[in-house]
Amino acid sequence: MAKTHITMTVNGAEIEGLVEPRTLLIHFLRENLNLTGAHIGCETSHCGACTVDMNGMSVKTCTVFAVQADGADITTIEGMANADGTLSALQEGFRQMHGLQCGFCTPGMIMRAHRLLQENPDPTEEEIRIGISGNLCRCTGYQNIVKAIQYAAAKINGTEFTEAAQ
Ligand code: FES
Ligand code: FES
Repeated sequence: MAKTHITMTVNGAEIEGLVEPRTLLIHFLRENLNLTGAHIGCETSHCGACTVDMNGMSVKTCTVFAVQADGADITTIEGMANADGTLSALQEGFRQMHGLQCGFCTPGMIMRAHRLLQENPDPTEEEIRIGISGNLCRCTGYQNIVKAIQYAAAKINGTEFTEAAQ
C-alpha cells in the first residue's frame, strides 16, 4: 500500500515518517517512534489509555489516523517530566497520592489531567471527576486519582493541598 510522508512535533522534537493511510496514531507513536507510554486498551475510544495531548486538546490516539496528525504538535507521557528530569507536579501527585495500581491507565490519565489543569487550573473535585470521565481505571476506584490531580493543582498554584476527595 502506498505510504504518505508525515511530519510532526513530538515532545518538542521534529519527527517524520512514512505511514499507510490506515495507520493509527497510537501505532505510529508506539511502533515507529518507540513511545510506548500511551497504551492500547479498547481501541474503540472508550478507555482513554491511549490519550495524548495534540494541538492543545486531549486526543484518544486509537481513533486518529497518523496522517490526520500531520503537522501536529503532540505531547506524550514521555514528554511530561520537568526539563531537569524531575517529576512534573502531576507525576509527583500520582506517586504521592497512590493514584495508580497496575499503571495501565496512568499515562492516559496524566495526559488528560494535564489538559484539564491547562483549561481549569483550580478545578473542584466534581470538575476533576467530570474532566477525567473519558478515562477508565479498573484498579483504583478513582479516589486517589482525584487526589493526585488536586495535589498537582495545589503545587502548580502554590496553594495548600487538602484531601477533599472521599
Ligand atoms: S485504546 Fe484508545 S480509548 Fe481505549
Ligand atoms: S491503575 Fe490499573 S487501570 Fe488504572
